[in-house]
Amino acid sequence: MGKLGIFAIFLCSITMVVPLVFGVAEGPKEVEEWFHSVSNHHHPNQKVTKMHFYLHDVFGVTTKKVAKPNTTAKSPTFFGETFMIDNPLTVGPSQASKLIGRAQGLYGFSSMEEVRVTVAMNLVFTDGSYNGSSLTSLGHNPVLQPKCEMPIIGGSGIFRLARGVALLNTYSHDDIKGNTTVEYNVILQHY
Ligand SMILES: *[C@@H]1O[C@H](CO)[C@@H](O)[C@H](O)[C@H]1NC(C)=O
Ligand SMILES: *[C@@H]1O[C@H](CO)[C@@H](O)[C@H](O)[C@H]1NC(C)=O
Ligand SMILES: *[C@@H]1O[C@H](CO)[C@@H](O)[C@H](O)[C@H]1NC(C)=O
Repeated sequence: MGKLGIFAIFLCSITMVVPLVFGVAEGPKEVEEWFHSVSNHHHPNQKVTKMHFYLHDVFGVTTKKVAKPNTTAKSPTFFGETFMIDNPLTVGPSQASKLIGRAQGLYGFSSMEEVRVTVAMNLVFTDGSYNGSSLTSLGHNPVLQPKCEMPIIGGSGIFRLARGVALLNTYSHDDIKGNTTVEYNVILQHY
């Protein structure tokens, strides 16, 4: 069950298994249009930055279980199981493509009724003009839903006072080894 739990994390688009159950999910284009419609005119000093990259979750290597109450084994939603992550971020979907940073933080199964995790992580950039800057994401991830949106609640360096939206989409998933690759589309306001 623990292993299934780790497989479920970051899986935001298991469309074969789970039908689209709520509303019309917005894609990166719709979110960008919405973003511009609300951010125009009000803050002329703010920049809007878009980012596209891939996160690699390698079971047992870049994601480690750090806590589990003895009741998790009996929980259908893995409630309580908690992981520490240091997942590479790359420009392309291959792990071998150019590294641009790492996603570092924690997530844990936080619902007794659904398979849902709370994620608190920093996207720490190590390349180019973003090198040394970071974004902080805090949100919940209903891992069995086909679409997943995470808030960006702050940042450091060139991303001071950033806020924005990250749309997650599972790009690939290996059931045997547990490697999961997640596509990120991020749009943010910052100064
Ligand atoms: C879990 O641990 C607590 C405290 O040690 C114990 O009282 C309880 O019986 C345990 N429950 C299970 C399901 O093992
Ligand atoms: C990023 O910044 C660090 C610290 O200044 C530096 O050591 C490193 O070479 C930089 N990396 C890249 C890819 O520019
Ligand atoms: C999973 O990731 C590990 C570590 O990067 C790698 O060695 C392994 O080949 C990957 N497995 C698959 C099926 O991609």
